[in-house]
Amino acid sequence: MPTHTLPEFVLERWFAEFEFVPGIRNLAASCPFSATTQELLALEGAETTERYLQLGLDYVENPGNERLRQGIANLYTTLEPGYIRVTSGASESLFLLILTTVQPGDNIVVEDPTYGNIAGVAQAQGAEVRRLPLQLEQDWKPDIEQLAQLVDDRTRLIYMTHSHHPTGSVRTVEEMQAIVRIAERVGAIFASDEVFRLIALDGTPAPSVIDVIEQAVVIGDMTKPWGLGGLRVGWVASRNTEILKRVSAARDYSTMCGSAPGEFLAEIALRHTQEVIAPRLAAARSNRQLLADAIAGSQKPVRWLTPQAGYTALLQLPFSTEPFCRYLAEEKRFLLLPGYVYGKQYERFMRIGFGCRTELFAEGLETVMQVLQGWDGD
Ligand SMILES: Cc1ncc(COP(=O)(O)O)c(C=O)c1O
Repeated sequence: MPTHTLPEFVLERWFAEFEFVPGIRNLAASCPFSATTQELLALEGAETTERYLQLGLDYVENPGNERLRQGIANLYTTLEPGYIRVTSGASESLFLLILTTVQPGDNIVVEDPTYGNIAGVAQAQGAEVRRLPLQLEQDWKPDIEQLAQLVDDRTRLIYMTHSHHPTGSVRTVEEMQAIVRIAERVGAIFASDEVFRLIALDGTPAPSVIDVIEQAVVIGDMTKPWGLGGLRVGWVASRNTEILKRVSAARDYSTMCGSAPGEFLAEIALRHTQEVIAPRLAAARSNRQLLADAIAGSQKPVRWLTPQAGYTALLQLPFSTEPFCRYLAEEKRFLLLPGYVYGKQYERFMRIGFGCRTELFAEGLETVMQVLQGWDGD
C-alpha cells in the first residue's frame, strides 16, 4: 500500500484563501462568467421549467444518465454515449482515472506547468511523477524527443492538457499523434484533458484527440466552456471498457453518482451550446485584445504567448509575482494567480483570467497595469 499523503494542491489553496472573500473580484479564473438557473431554464419553454421543479432528488445513475451522455457525445464526431462516464467535474475524472491506473513503482509523465490533480494523486499513490518542461520560447509546445526519453516500461500514463493549461497553447493533430505513438510504444494511457478545447479564440476548436486517436482517453467538463462549474458535471471518455469499468467502480467510493439538478441543467446547456458559449467567447476575445494592448503599452517588460484557446494567459514579469498578487488581492481586491503555484521555476510568472465580463476585466486590467508600472520588485 502506498504510504504517501496527498501533497498540497498549491493552486487550489491560493484560490481557497482569496476567491470567496467578500469584495474580491476574480481576474484569475480559468472559466468564464457564470449563468443563473433562471437563464438556463429560459433557454427552453415553461414545460422544461415545470419538469425542473418536479425533478425528483433521489440518487441518479453512477455513469450519468443516457440523455446527458448523448448530449456530451454530440460534442465529438465519433463518440457513443456508452464510452462516456459523467463525474463530479473534471476533477473527479482526473482523480478516479489516476487512482485506478498507478501503483507504487510506476511512473507517469505530465507537462510542466500543468494542472496539479493528476500529479498530486499519482505521487500519493507512490508513483514517480516525471515532468516534461515546456518553454515560452517554444510556444509552450512539448518537445517530442524529450518526451520519448522520459518514458519507459513502467510509464502508465501521459497526461496533457489540450489546449494547454494555463498558457492556451494549441497543438497540431500531428503533434498529438507523435505523442500517442510514444505512449503506445510503452503501453501507457494517453490522457488528454480537453476542458478548454471548445473555447477556440481564433477559428474553430481543435478536434478532440479521441476523434483522431481511437485509444486516447479524454476529459471534459461544463465548467470551462459554459461557465457552469457549480453544476459539478464533467466526464471522462474512452473506448477502453476496462478503464470505464475501473472509473465507475472507484466512483462507488468517491461520490457514487452526480446530482440530479446538476445533470438536468447540464442537459439544457448542452442543447444550447452555441447560445451559452457565444457571448462568453465574444467577451474573452475582446478581453484578450485589451490585454494585448496593455502589454504592448507597458513600460515594464511583460512576455507572453497570446493564448489561442481557453480563458487564461501566463505572463512573465521581471520580478517574483507572489508579493505583487498578494498586494493586488489585499489592497486592490483583484485576484490574480502567482506562478509559484505551478512550481518555484514559475515564480516570475502570473496567470490572468480573461473570461469575465469586459467591464470588470477592463477595470481590473487598468489597476493591474498601474500597479505594475510602479512596482519595485525583483
Ligand atoms: C486543466 C483542468 N482540468 C480540470 C480542472 C477541474 O475543473 P472542474 O472540476 O471544475 O471540471 C481544471 C480546473 O481549473 C483545469 O484547469
